[in-house]
Amino acid sequence: MESHEKYLQNLKQWLHDTSDSPLEEMSDFFTKRLGGYEEHMSIWEKSYQMFSEVLPSHCQNILDLGCGTGLELDKIWEKNPDIEVTGVDLCQSMLDKLLKKHSDKRLTIVCQDYFKYDFGYEKWDAVISFESLHHFLPERKKELYRNAYNGLKRGGVFLLGDYIACCDEEEELLCSAYLNRRNQFAIPDNSFVHFDIPLTLEHERELLQNVGFVIEKVLDNPDGAAIIAAGKGD
Ligand SMILES: C[S@@+](CC[C@H](N)C(=O)[O-])C[C@H]1O[C@@H](n2cnc3c(N)ncnc32)[C@H](O)[C@@H]1O
Repeated sequence: MESHEKYLQNLKQWLHDTSDSPLEEMSDFFTKRLGGYEEHMSIWEKSYQMFSEVLPSHCQNILDLGCGTGLELDKIWEKNPDIEVTGVDLCQSMLDKLLKKHSDKRLTIVCQDYFKYDFGYEKWDAVISFESLHHFLPERKKELYRNAYNGLKRGGVFLLGDYIACCDEEEELLCSAYLNRRNQFAIPDNSFVHFDIPLTLEHERELLQNVGFVIEKVLDNPDGAAIIAAGKGD
């Protein structure tokens, strides 16, 4: 197993080697890789399974932020085929694939930036997101977490599955590379690019708690992704 020091050393080397590689626009990034996407993500198979098991069984309607082709939904519907899902994603081609796989389900898709989506008030049993929010800075995520909090019914749950930085140093290295590259390539503020800037588990928990969530369960990186269940309370 790779040591922590070796991991950080490799990360620094990779950041150095790729420092001149242009950043790809988010939706284009996923459209270009759609063909091999599900196979590429199959390394997270166990995480998708665990994610579906953490979702409380009483949930009847859920909002999925960055649903993509719905790998987490495949597992959720396997357990509960009647659950009603609204999936929001920027990338139409990912949504088309989701629709094709699940035309028989109670599914509404919304091709939109989730930061602009109207969550409504006390509408959802659960808001979920898998492997999507690690592309954004904490201030933006906090905005979204607040919307999720308000959009959830009392007693509802926000279920997050995502990459987590292993330490402050990794979080800082990636965040400063991200900001430098946006600057270097003159990316406008309102444009989304594909570059991973995960937070540490501690910082992710703090953000959720800051908007009022109570952390109910944490599966700390059992399979490369952490799973956090954050409750709204009654
Ligand atoms: C790695 S994929 C994960 C998809 C799915 N949740 C899964 O685990 O297979 C990330 C998804 O987030 C979507 N996404 C990224 N930023 C978004 C935004 N601001 N609004 C809506 N969707 C976004 C991308 O288009 C992409 O489909």
